[in-house]
Amino acid sequence: MASQQALTELAKRRGFFFGANEAYGGTAGFYTFGPEGAALKRNVESAWREQFTLRLGNEEIEAPTVMPEPVFEASGHLDGFDDMLIECAECGESHRADHLIEDAVADIEDAEALGVDRVEELIRDHDLACPTCGADLAGEPVEDFNLMFETSIGPGSGQPGYLRPETAQGIFVEFPRLKEYARGQLPFGITQIGPAYRNEISPRRGIIRVREFTQAELEQFIDPEEDEPPLEAVEDVEVTLYPVSEQHADDGEYIETTIGEAVDDAIITSPWVAYFLGVAQGWYERVGVDMDRFRFRQHLSGERAHYAADCWDAESEIGGNWIEIAGFAYRGDYDLTKHGEHSEDRFTVFKRYDEPKTVETATVDPDMAALGPEFGGAAGDVADALQALAESDPDAFDGDEVTVEIDGEIYTVDTEVANFSVEEQTENGEHITPHVVEPSFGVGRTVYTLLEHAYSEDEVDDETRTYLSLAPEIAPTDVAVFPLVSNDDALIDVASDLADELRAAGISVSYDDSGSIGRRYRRQDEVGTPFCVTVDQDGLEGDDETTVTLRERDSAAQLRLPVADLAAELEAVFDGDREFADLQDRYERVDTDVTTD
Ligand code: GAP
Repeated sequence: MASQQALTELAKRRGFFFGANEAYGGTAGFYTFGPEGAALKRNVESAWREQFTLRLGNEEIEAPTVMPEPVFEASGHLDGFDDMLIECAECGESHRADHLIEDAVADIEDAEALGVDRVEELIRDHDLACPTCGADLAGEPVEDFNLMFETSIGPGSGQPGYLRPETAQGIFVEFPRLKEYARGQLPFGITQIGPAYRNEISPRRGIIRVREFTQAELEQFIDPEEDEPPLEAVEDVEVTLYPVSEQHADDGEYIETTIGEAVDDAIITSPWVAYFLGVAQGWYERVGVDMDRFRFRQHLSGERAHYAADCWDAESEIGGNWIEIAGFAYRGDYDLTKHGEHSEDRFTVFKRYDEPKTVETATVDPDMAALGPEFGGAAGDVADALQALAESDPDAFDGDEVTVEIDGEIYTVDTEVANFSVEEQTENGEHITPHVVEPSFGVGRTVYTLLEHAYSEDEVDDETRTYLSLAPEIAPTDVAVFPLVSNDDALIDVASDLADELRAAGISVSYDDSGSIGRRYRRQDEVGTPFCVTVDQDGLEGDDETTVTLRERDSAAQLRLPVADLAAELEAVFDGDREFADLQDRYERVDTDVTTD
């Protein structure tokens, strides 16, 4: 297991990620992915897209990252997307007040749920000190701090806007158009991969908690009464679950079960959430998460976001701590209802009945010539109140008079003036607000998990060799090609032609002719390149006998194989059609190390 320091050092030295803007002193919470990191992140995103967009039959969109204020008034982020802030008067450092409590008080795991006043009280009661300078924090106020980055759209005072704190809102606000694209048919799923921004109070642990990060989100729109997920596809998938009940129990344990059993036993109440946990389990395994260091944990009630009715997190173990790498929330109709209330657009779908229904509709058609003189300016409100009463309680119109109450005042109207009637209407369907189930993945945290879980060391010739055992699909580079020595033009020509040939076959190749061959292997091991190909004198033959050395990263095993076979064999390995072990059975093994320069 890598220490955080070792991994951060490797990440910086080998170009995975490093603090951004270091030339100007750095900016906390912002990271640049270097060439290896950007390639790794891209591969994670491609694998996610392949699973959650293509294989599940969903559609992907790309919405703007800046959105106007009304979007976040509607979504609830303006009011509710806060963390608890406490500032040290001595050194000026800001801290998450709830995290200070969780770190200091053994039996409090979810201090956010306690509210600002109680957290302030607990900081006083426990005499908590500033983690940065040690000054007393007892007298400092705790306040809610909104995490959104505010901006202004257009010149001058412009229109207030915010950088989106989740990619999801870009999907929800476009629902009226997306539903048309889906021909109004539920269920359908929309995905988006892109940046999200949160002005975190204390960004920390490298790329784990940052202020700009990439999310990969799927918003699955369903009819809660009709639509069921294809649970049979994942019912046998084995998962490790940590539900609320076990988190509350003194001797709480993980539950090792299958997705099917978890639904049958009501451990996971939403079959849709269960379905996505099953799909995600397979995906994490495929991209190389160590499944012995992985679990699904249900949110405690105080932990859930303002929109979530239930939520499970995918968590990975990193350096002895569990971190959330994805959330699977049942958002209900919260988002679409809110956007429907706050905008002019319609956030519903028309659900056609199997058979048209005949319904009785109670209505009034008040005689305004009578209501006007009697009630003056209130006549319009009285007419509206009569209509509302007709719909809610038609029997109220049985007598000679009917009464309605408006702002505490009673208005009495002759039933004849109200003109009450019941009409029969044929309805073909109704407008319903879909529910949303949302798998939401943090790409940076997935990348970090993969690096941590892939980090390996072994002893070679009394030296420690560090290598990243990344899944071939995810590794930044597929193959590195080297000429054995760097001062032989003929070898260099053949090796660089071979690199081009492999690239033309769709394989990502790094060509390297600098330094000793041993060093070049070490460099590729440290960035997780699954295979290295070395061209030596036997690669100069120019006929069927021409061979090169193929070295596999984890075992450091080397084979000699004809250069003519190389591209096809590697393609088969990368496509998952062949294992390196099959190649070992068919080609000559090289025991002597060709790696010395
Ligand atoms: N739309 C739902 C949503 O945004 P979330 O749990 O707040 O849910 C989803 O975020 C994922 O985004 C998390 O599981 C995590 O992987 C990632 N994430 C959230 N905040 C982050 C931060 N400050 N830095 C890095 N990743 C973050």
